[in-house]
Amino acid sequence: MAARLATVRSSARRQFAPEQAASPWWRDAVVYQVYLRSFADGNGDGIGDLAGLRARLPYLNWLGVDALWINPHYPSGGADGGYDISDYRAVDPEYGDVSDLEALVEDARALGLRVLLDVVPNHTSDQHPWFQAALADPDSPEAARYHFAPASEEPPNNWRSLFGGPAWSRTPDGRWYLHLFAPEQPDLNWRDPAVAEDFERTLRFWLDRGVSGFRVDVAYGLFKDADLRDNPGAYSPTLFGHGPEQAMTWNQPEVHDVWRRWRSVCDEYPDTMLVGEVCLADPEEIALYSRPDELHQSFSFRLLKSGWSAESFADGVRSALDAFGKVGAPVSWVLGNHDKDRQVTRFGGGEVGDARARAAALLTLSLPGSAYIYAGDELGLPQASVPDEAKKDPIFFRSGGERSGRDGCRVPMPWNATPGVGFSPRGSARPWLPIPAEWRRYAVSRQTRDDSSMLHLYRRALAVRAEHPALGSGEATVSRRGDVLTVRSTAEGRSVRCVVNMGEHTVLVRTAGTVLLSSAPQVSHTSGRSLALPANTAVWIAED
Ligand code: GLC
Ligand code: CA
Repeated sequence: MAARLATVRSSARRQFAPEQAASPWWRDAVVYQVYLRSFADGNGDGIGDLAGLRARLPYLNWLGVDALWINPHYPSGGADGGYDISDYRAVDPEYGDVSDLEALVEDARALGLRVLLDVVPNHTSDQHPWFQAALADPDSPEAARYHFAPASEEPPNNWRSLFGGPAWSRTPDGRWYLHLFAPEQPDLNWRDPAVAEDFERTLRFWLDRGVSGFRVDVAYGLFKDADLRDNPGAYSPTLFGHGPEQAMTWNQPEVHDVWRRWRSVCDEYPDTMLVGEVCLADPEEIALYSRPDELHQSFSFRLLKSGWSAESFADGVRSALDAFGKVGAPVSWVLGNHDKDRQVTRFGGGEVGDARARAAALLTLSLPGSAYIYAGDELGLPQASVPDEAKKDPIFFRSGGERSGRDGCRVPMPWNATPGVGFSPRGSARPWLPIPAEWRRYAVSRQTRDDSSMLHLYRRALAVRAEHPALGSGEATVSRRGDVLTVRSTAEGRSVRCVVNMGEHTVLVRTAGTVLLSSAPQVSHTSGRSLALPANTAVWIAED
């Protein structure tokens, strides 16, 4: 089977061309998330950059993705991996400059790849000129763009920072200011019209440079309860997202007007899109962010937050399809990102984790909607253990070391099997986070030579998906028998079943059809009409 699949040509890949209005490119796109700092270092200082990414675009083209989303590239205070921006219309010199970004967009376009940027509207850096002006003068217009409260013994309410500790800190002159993340990330006051105006300028600045849209950070934030009332309860990271317990800080109705406005800005630029990070527990509430005149997509994080359980995955797939179906938006499936432990590790680590991650990849890439692949997941990278003294994530520091933080999923990519794993050109630069020595075995160069590698599985899956109308679009039905999950997708009169065995024993699957792809080589037909599906394995079957 491998031999047959290897011949799948990528010529059928969706071309970068004007779309028919009926099916815009983003509805079933596969988007590759580039953690810029860790992707490829072009100038040898140990930090990934735009030149490094540009040089690796042929890899992404070979892999077969449609677009890339780049984590924040802006000048930043450096307190939260670039999510504390001090200038929204510039490039951090560590990464290059605006002309490097333009060159990247152009090269990507020539390869048929679109580029999405990350935009962070909930908060700025404390280094942003607005916040500096607000600190200097409480009566300045800039002070009205943040949430300040007069000096007093106690903070204005019980709100907590998502990174740990209270959400209020003091200014040197004793006032309180709000930060739902780190103290270096003061929250903006979206009731001040100057804030909205400035963000529209930022969107246009980058859209004018040819980007295809934005991933919108904390899109469920921005507005807070106008009276700053106490939250009824505390957020627990074990929940699927925020709910009524955090009703005063998130998901205020006014935020939807911002997305309507941003959508109309995007509508002026053909083929652009917005995808929102909406960390709410209720899928129906998430889907409301992607009503026809709001964000084109909102991430569905349910599978990212589900353990390895057919029940949980079935529920996650079904509830997302139902909720987004009601608003007519595609689901945007996510299995990994820069905020969560690597999936191989989440699913149990070692060979088992690896097998499950392969199976999960086939499941997600079969589902109707778009799929987001986090850089390094196509290599099966595990969560790296980063020594405490090398850690950078504010979550680790603000929780007093109680939460290990997100550094372990942000370690640089291994490109080859040399000692520096080819992340930096000379291999001698110290990478900004230490790369485990054993990561050579995951190197791209090794996996491209190994037909059974995770990398080849992803590449095949993307090639088959691009050729088969039922993969990534169409209507899907979800069923579960014990530990076996089946999703049957149909488009243009053709159906594919993705069957995943999430249990511990081999099961016999009745098939009338052709195996398009399996996540493990040992899947075998036992008779003409059934096949043996080992534990932790998925298979795509095209129905006759
Ligand atoms: C989002 C980002 C995360 C960041 C946070 C604050 O959740 O994905 O990395 O720390 O927003 O901007
Ligand atoms: Ca660099």
